[in-house]
Amino acid sequence: MSRLVVVSNRVALPGAEQAGGLAVALKAALQETGGLWFGWSGRTVRGNSGELHEQREGDIRYLTVDLSRDDFEGYYNGFANRTLWPLLHFRPDLVDYNRETHDAYRRVNALFAEKLAKRLKPDDIVWVHDYHLLPLAEELRMRGVESRIGFFLHVPLPSADLIAALPSHNRPFGALTAYDLVGFQTERDLERFQDYLRLYAGGKVVRKGVLLDRAGREFRAGAFPIGIDTPRIAELAADAVRKPGVKRLQASLAGRSLAIGVDRLDYSKGIPERFRAFARFLDRHPEKRGKLTFLQIAPVSRGGVGEYRALKRELEQLAGHINGGYAEPDWTPVRYVNRNYPHATLTGFYRMARIALVTPLRDGMNLVAKEFVAAQDPDDPGVLILSSFAGAARELDSALQVNPYDLDGVADAIATGLEMPLAERRKRWRKMMERVGRYDIHAWRKDFLSALAATRA
Ligand code: G6P
Repeated sequence: MSRLVVVSNRVALPGAEQAGGLAVALKAALQETGGLWFGWSGRTVRGNSGELHEQREGDIRYLTVDLSRDDFEGYYNGFANRTLWPLLHFRPDLVDYNRETHDAYRRVNALFAEKLAKRLKPDDIVWVHDYHLLPLAEELRMRGVESRIGFFLHVPLPSADLIAALPSHNRPFGALTAYDLVGFQTERDLERFQDYLRLYAGGKVVRKGVLLDRAGREFRAGAFPIGIDTPRIAELAADAVRKPGVKRLQASLAGRSLAIGVDRLDYSKGIPERFRAFARFLDRHPEKRGKLTFLQIAPVSRGGVGEYRALKRELEQLAGHINGGYAEPDWTPVRYVNRNYPHATLTGFYRMARIALVTPLRDGMNLVAKEFVAAQDPDDPGVLILSSFAGAARELDSALQVNPYDLDGVADAIATGLEMPLAERRKRWRKMMERVGRYDIHAWRKDFLSALAATRA
């Protein structure tokens, strides 16, 4: 069996805090083949980039690289998160392009390739993750690597015309053609990539998923919607109801229903719009005031980028404004929390909630939506209100789907969710749970890896 090599910006190192479903699945795949996980060490240093750290855990080796402060600033805070992230999330208005950060991004990708190329064997299978590393295969190929290399984009791919608005777009995006397999979350992302390839990268679409680069070399692309560790989430949720933190939340609600939102504090998640929609709901349904509490959990993210700091200030104001306008001495409509909770607690919150508000303006997939489904009590499941602009909307088509920009529509969905009869909640939930159970995170990684292995069978 070929050795698996995973490459990603963040590496779930042994002993680090709770590993998410993705890390668990990747570790399972790495363990099977005595694999290697390569990426950034999580450290920025005063001197030069490039110092390597090696660790082992079971049959897995971890190899990580330190980055200099300047490289990290240009590569991560700069090109990855001020340029690519907004572009990929359909926000050209927020894109900040400059050559210096693009150079830093190239430099870090070249450094990763240089360190990794020396360790690769021809029959390794290399799996690269996400927008931080778009040109990695191209850099590896330039260093003589001939192994099979696959790429998975965890975030959305915008339309070809939007990508083409990025100066030098062919360098990061045309470079995707150096992979053997490029995976996307949904069929729509795949279609947009095919458009980009034809219209702006000089390539050809032979048929869906079978593509030619500008030199006529064949490569593959496909849709692989990422899943969650469904049995683990369901089990955690059933156990969580006994946890003190979960019991305390339950007691504090004093019989009121709970609506919950859980997101990294990111402008793609539509949190201000969600707050406004909740206020609209309170405004239009005075009889429901005092009957529902909205808990938004939003751990702070990417504080080195101005837009994220501005969003934090905006949400503090909004939460204060809504509570000031609607609260009663014994009821706070919005509870807004910037910390992160372990899954063992979070899944209990999900199970307790009558409604989940998952209303991103754009999202590659959104695993909170799937985890909320998996965490429900089958006898009394809650209602998922889901943005039609999340990748998960394709699979979870029996959620209450909303346009997150339509505040009245979201307000109506909250009212519908609160009133929804048990029989309908069960019916909708069963359909979603069936999908989330069948195509889970392990099915996803096996599917991707066998497609990658088959590219040169
Ligand atoms: C998204 C991205 C991931 C990223 C994560 C957390 O899910 O697709 O690549 O790791 O956000 O963001 P951070 O910048 O903290 O790694």
